[in-house]
Amino acid sequence: MNTKVWKVDKYVDKLENNPQVVDAANFLRDNEVVALPTETVYGLGGNAKSDAAVEKIFAAKGRPSDNPLIIHIAEKNQLSEFVAEVPEKAERLIEGFWPGPLTIIFKKKEGVLSETATAGLATVAVRMPDHPVALALLKSCGLPIAAPSANSSGKPSPTTADHVLDDLNGKIAGVIDGGATGIGVESTVVDCTESIPVILRPGGVTKEQLESVVGVVHVDAALTDEAARPKAPGMKYRHYAPNAPLFMVSGTTEFLQGLVEEKRQEGLRVGVLTTEENARLFEADVVLACGKRAELETVAAALYDTLRRFNQEKVDVIFSEIFPNAGVGHAIMNRLQKAAGNKLITE
Ligand code: TXA
Ligand code: MG
Repeated sequence: MNTKVWKVDKYVDKLENNPQVVDAANFLRDNEVVALPTETVYGLGGNAKSDAAVEKIFAAKGRPSDNPLIIHIAEKNQLSEFVAEVPEKAERLIEGFWPGPLTIIFKKKEGVLSETATAGLATVAVRMPDHPVALALLKSCGLPIAAPSANSSGKPSPTTADHVLDDLNGKIAGVIDGGATGIGVESTVVDCTESIPVILRPGGVTKEQLESVVGVVHVDAALTDEAARPKAPGMKYRHYAPNAPLFMVSGTTEFLQGLVEEKRQEGLRVGVLTTEENARLFEADVVLACGKRAELETVAAALYDTLRRFNQEKVDVIFSEIFPNAGVGHAIMNRLQKAAGNKLITE
């Protein structure tokens, strides 16, 4: 399959009528799959009402079929088509954070969406992305769009159209290139089907932000306890992994440098994932600064690109600094733990 690339400037007006966006929307209406930029990561979109379209998403990504997709909408009134009820707390979260990096789990109305999209669950995950190109595409096609991150299953999520093409060129109808995404880690997934909302996946909206709007918010036990079974099916898989084994390192920069030297003596090509503040303190084959430690948002924005760059650099092993587990650091550490398969070396 020849994968089309539509270049769209996200700052121009009336994007719904932009010929590139309209062309991509037509592919979606024909039940083809198209990658699109959002404010978090690139998504691989398909008509959420069509089994045929949704099956193409799973096939292109190589995604396990028990892992349901997030349904993307452009207008709040689209919810009533496939959501059974919008509880009061969900209503407040929508007011506070949509459009934006927050996915809400609702009870589902049966018989509207593809059962493959929701992996046969009684619930459905929905979000309204805060990206002009994504919103224009959603409006232009007029459909609820199922969209997981547009990477091969298990790889770091894509934050540029080039990342999408690295994984999916030839496997999808097209990609809209709207530039690099802003936030860099996926949306926060919050379950609103019980009386107290529960975070199933940390992401672009922090727990503190959610609590400022709805009061107490719980965190799925699986996010802190490796033995617990996660409520979001996708959270049980190893994810975001670079090709080389990645180790998180808790300790001083000297301790991390010592680990690098040990591996270099064994003849390995060693990578270090650090930050702008610390980069000059390391000597290794490949030292990559992933944003600024003093501004964790910049670490989130650079994280997946940095993991992918280690693949291009063909390192044998990667040692990574760790980050404070609060605010957006919670999402960064969650992704890093998954990328590392939880391997942590403590001084
Ligand atoms: O930022 C994002 O959320 C991106 C962009 C493209 O919107 N999308 C994304 O989708 O990250 P994906 O498929 O990579 O992750 C969806 C997560 C998975 O962990 C999945 O298991 C969970 O949401 N999920 C989906 N439906 C669910 C449901 N009904 N109940 C519990 N978890 C659900
Ligand atoms: Mg994903």
